[in-house]
Parts: sequence; structure tokens; C-alpha cells
Amino acid sequence: MSTAQDEIDFKADLTLQRLQPQLEAVWQTSQISEVKRHEFELRLSEHWRPLFGLLFRLYRSRYDFFFHVEQILLTAARGWVERPDRLCELDRHRINEPNWFLSEKISGGALYVDLFGENLTKLRENVSYFKELGLKYLHFMPLFAVRPGNNDGGYAISTYRSVDPRLGTIDDLRLLAADLREAGISLVLDFVFNHTSDDHEWAQLAQAGNREFQEYYYIFPDRTEPEKYERTLREIFPTIRRGNFTWHDGMQQWVWTTFNSFQWDLNYTNPAVFRAMLEEMLFITNTGVDILRLDAVAFIWKQMGTNCENLPEAHLLIQAFNRLARIATPGLLFKSEAIVHPDDVVKYINEDECQISYNPTLMALLWESLATRKVNLLVQTLKHRHRLPPNTSWVNYLRCHDDIGWTFDNADAEAIGINAYDHRNFLNDFYTGQFPGSFARGVPFQENHETGDMRISGTMASLAGLEQAIEEDDDEKKELAIRRMLLLHGVSLSIGGIPLLYLGEEWGMLNDYDFVTDPAKAGDSRWIHRPKMKWEFLEVLDDRIGTENGSIRKQIFRSTQRLIALRKSLPALAGQEMDLIATSNEHILGYVRFNNGNRLIVLANFSEEPQEIEGNKLRTAGLGRFFQNVIDDKTYATSERLVLAPYQILWLNRV
Ligand code: GLC
Ligand code: GLC
Repeated sequence: MSTAQDEIDFKADLTLQRLQPQLEAVWQTSQISEVKRHEFELRLSEHWRPLFGLLFRLYRSRYDFFFHVEQILLTAARGWVERPDRLCELDRHRINEPNWFLSEKISGGALYVDLFGENLTKLRENVSYFKELGLKYLHFMPLFAVRPGNNDGGYAISTYRSVDPRLGTIDDLRLLAADLREAGISLVLDFVFNHTSDDHEWAQLAQAGNREFQEYYYIFPDRTEPEKYERTLREIFPTIRRGNFTWHDGMQQWVWTTFNSFQWDLNYTNPAVFRAMLEEMLFITNTGVDILRLDAVAFIWKQMGTNCENLPEAHLLIQAFNRLARIATPGLLFKSEAIVHPDDVVKYINEDECQISYNPTLMALLWESLATRKVNLLVQTLKHRHRLPPNTSWVNYLRCHDDIGWTFDNADAEAIGINAYDHRNFLNDFYTGQFPGSFARGVPFQENHETGDMRISGTMASLAGLEQAIEEDDDEKKELAIRRMLLLHGVSLSIGGIPLLYLGEEWGMLNDYDFVTDPAKAGDSRWIHRPKMKWEFLEVLDDRIGTENGSIRKQIFRSTQRLIALRKSLPALAGQEMDLIATSNEHILGYVRFNNGNRLIVLANFSEEPQEIEGNKLRTAGLGRFFQNVIDDKTYATSERLVLAPYQILWLNRV
């Protein structure tokens, strides 16, 4: 061990020794049991040194460093004191089964409480729906109190302590969390920690001139500093406002606002912000959350002269939150939301940082493969980008509440002769339906005329061709669109990681163009793919009814549900291990999944023509001569060429 490390460990130990009396005082006033206190102390002794090391690197130059370290520790202790018994019980289980989230039994769903179930109480009545679909992980989009008017779909939070009154109360949330636990479903909520709404109490105090709270944000008297920063910054929402700063009339100052002008970036160079957000994090977690989705992780640290994204300190901050979670709420996992370059996405994924992460590269490249009908770029990328550190997992998704950005790596594209700039333009043309013969009905999001950048909004079904097919009343096109959707689900459910459905997909919900009538939504095309759930769809599951489009919905629902159920029955699908198969056919993606002696071969045809692969490819990859496609039970002999129907996906088990 280096002497520098020795030195920090020595400081860590001494600091903890000095803080013992304060800790003692917390235990005394709370009167928690000996056992519960002992559990905390055990975890503290395990995680204290690394935690202290992180805080030291981040904040040692602060004149009041020791004070903040003390407050952080006491906040963690109080978080544990307040943690309800049933959650402590869960912690004990999770400590013994830390890899529960790698199981093939887990499939997830994400939804808006109001659009799906009106409010939390109504949602409690729908738990059976999620069970029927086979979901064991549910992400509710932000449900905390928000500013009036535009609130960025819940991401402009006024207080982390109460639920949006239109959706219910914190107690309703606790009850729902308990019901979900009862049903074996994990609860995922956002930790929106990059910014607060401009009407959060801290922002209001800042606006009232309180200096302590002005230091919670990045506030500048004039354009000098902002302009220096701007030189190297991206614009995330260029159609909202140019640049990253917003003039505040009341304060007569500039505020850093990476996203909407009413979302004020928190200043994590201030340890008081770190501590305050820790308290909010523990509060949220203690309502019964299993996984926190860390929102917009890329942006939480700024440094002049950089693009202020994915900076090393952003990682240290998350690692510090992670250590504190392990001390105070040990059952909790972090999910990273970094929709950035794949080299940067992966840096957040680590047992000590975020155990799971959205897989935006896979998402974008699956759509890329559908547009080109070729899997070259997808394969080139998966070759060196799918593998993750031990005990972590991808969260694979096809659509979510946000746009699609073409975040593949330019060098991956160039390696196979694709010009990345042209290709992104092609994809944007394709998914906005401009490209001749396109089946997609997407719309632009945040088109930047200066840089040519653009992202895509639209529901899965509309992007996969269902909207166009229904409008043209073309049965063949409808069939192809449905096959595309099932192909994507088939990959997402099998390639390795937690598959995450964006609810509505199970019905093939189309774009909702009505959002433009609401002034708070009209300027943000992402609302096109945030439609309201139509519960009458459930009626089509009744065999006696079957209108024409009803039968399409039923087909999509039943097939999706079936794939989810099948996944659960295939232990080869646990974990992340995946080897690509060289299919020698640029339209067919092939891979082997293996786990604990179980193997499953997946072959997926991304074109609307039948495609072939040699039987012996399957034999070598699958170590057998006869295989059965578990999706339709058909068997295949490797002595023959294997033919995949248009957009067919095979999940092959050796027989
Ligand atoms: C995340 C959310 C997105 C939101 C942004 C700002 O990226 O997914 O919807 O606009 O953060 O909070
Ligand atoms: C950007 C951000 C991402 C956010 C998205 C919202 O891509 O990187 O975090 O979700 O914008 O559109």
C-alpha cells in the first residue's frame, strides 16, 4: 500500500474516532436496538475509509471540511435510524444475495403514474396487471411535487419530500411500495440530483438573496464566467434556449441551467449540497425503493475549459453516494442514466458506482439495424462494448420517455467503412419518414441548425412502421411492423442484462399528436411518445371480441407477454455473458448466451427477406446437432442450412 494511502487511512480512522461521540448521541436519542446499531457500525467499518478517501479528494480544500464530513456521517446514521424495519429486513436478504438483479426472472417496465393509472391509489389496483405481464421491476417516472406549468415530465422537482398532490401522498407511495414488494416487484424511482426546480425551497432562498443558498447553485453576476464556460459546452436543449445559462430577473444574475431554464444545476463543489442531497436520497430510498435511477449523471460536475460532462469528479461523487447507500440503505442499487458516448457510459458501471446502467448504444444500434437491415455496426460495437465488470448489468431498452440519439462511436462506424456524420443524417431522415421507402413515423427533437444535430421522438410502434401500415391499411406492412417490434423485444430480452419495457409498448401504442394542444408540452416533442394508457385495450384480450386493430394489439400483447415468460424459464439468460456468432450473413445477428452450464443460441434476421445461415455455424456455437426454437417449438438439424423468415428471431435450445 502506498504511503499516501496510509496517510489518508490514518486521517480517516482518526476522524471517525473523533466523530464517535456524535454518533453515540444519535443512537442515544433515537433509542434504536443494539442489533440495528451494530449492523450500521459493521458496515461503517467496512466502507468508512474508502468513503473518507472520496470526500477527501473532493472537498479537502474547503476550510470547513471536517464539519461537512461530520454532517455527512450523521445524516447517514439518521437515515439508518429512520429506515423502516421491513426494509432493514430486506437489506439483510440482499446482503446475502447481492446479485439478485442478474436473474433471468427479472424483466422491467417504466411508466408515468398519471398516464398509466391516474394516481398512486389507482395504480395499486393495477399491480395484478404488471404481474400478468411478468414484470418484476417497475420504474415510476418522477412523481414528486413539481413546479406549476412545464415541469419537464416531472424532472423539475420542487421538493423531494412530497408526492405531486395530483398523484397522492408520500404515504400512498409507501403503501404502493409495500404492495409491490408483496407481489415480488422491485420499485425504481428517480434521484434527480443534477438540478432542482427554480421553485425548490433552496432556489427560493437563493432568489431572496440568501448567500448560503446561492452557493447551492451556479450563479453569476454577469456574462464573464458563463461566456468562458460556454466556449467548451454542448447545448442539450438548444430549441429551449441558446446556451447553458438563464438570466434571472429577480436576482439580476445568471444561473447555470443545463436543461430547461427552470431546472437549476446544483453546485456539488459545495459539500453542503452533497450532504443535503444525501438526506433527500435516503428519504426517498426509505419510502421503499430498491433501485434509484441516477438522472443525468454526466452533468453533475463542472470544470472550466472542459465540456463539463463525465468529469472524474462526477464519478467520485457517485461513488461517495454509493458508499453511503451501502452504509445506510444497503439493499439499494444505483442505475446510471448516462446517454452519452459509449466510452463514457461504461465508466459509471461498477460495483462501487452504479451497479446497473441504461444501454443507450444497444438501443440506438437496434434501430440503426432496422433502418439499414444490416447488423454490421451493431456487431462491430457489441464485440468490444457489451462486456461489463463483475456483478453489474445493462438495462436494455428499446424506447423510453426520452428521445433517441445516435450515440454510437464514430471509430466503430469508420472501422467498417461508414461515415458517421452522413450515417446520422441518414438515420434522422429515415426515422422522420423523409428517406424514400421509410416505414417510420418519428419526429425531430432538439434539432440544432448550427451543428446539424438532431434526435428522434416517437413510440416504438410508430417508429417500427405500425402507424404507417394502419394508415395505409396495408396488412402486409402491419405484419412486418409487428415482426419488427417482436424482433427488438426478442433481442432486448435475451442479449444479457435487465430488459426494460416502456409501458405502452406491449400494446403497440402509436404516437400521440395531441400534446401540441397543451402549452406546457407543445415545445417538447418527447410528449409524442408519452401517450395515456387505454385500459379498454384489455378488452381485446377477451377472445369473444376482436375488431381488426384489436387483434393486432392482442397479438402484440400476447407475444410480448409470452417472450417475457419464456425468458424466465431459461437460466442461460441470467447475467451478462454473451459471445457473438459470426453468421456470415450481414442481416443476421447471432449470439450465444451461457450461464452455469446452460446455453441458448439467438439468431435474429433484421431484414424483410428470408435469410440463411449454415447449419454448422449453429453446431459449433451451440455444441449440438439438433436445436429447438423455444418460441415456436420448431426443431432444426444442423446438417441443413437454416432459414430465418423475415424479421424472425430464434431462441435455440439444444435438444
Ligand atoms: C434526464 C431525463 C430527461 C430530462 C433530463 C433533465 O435525462 O431522462 O427526461 O429531461 O434528465 O432532468
Ligand atoms: C441528453 C442528455 C440525457 C437526457 C437527454 C434528454 O441526451 O445526455 O441525459 O436524457 O438529453 O433528451
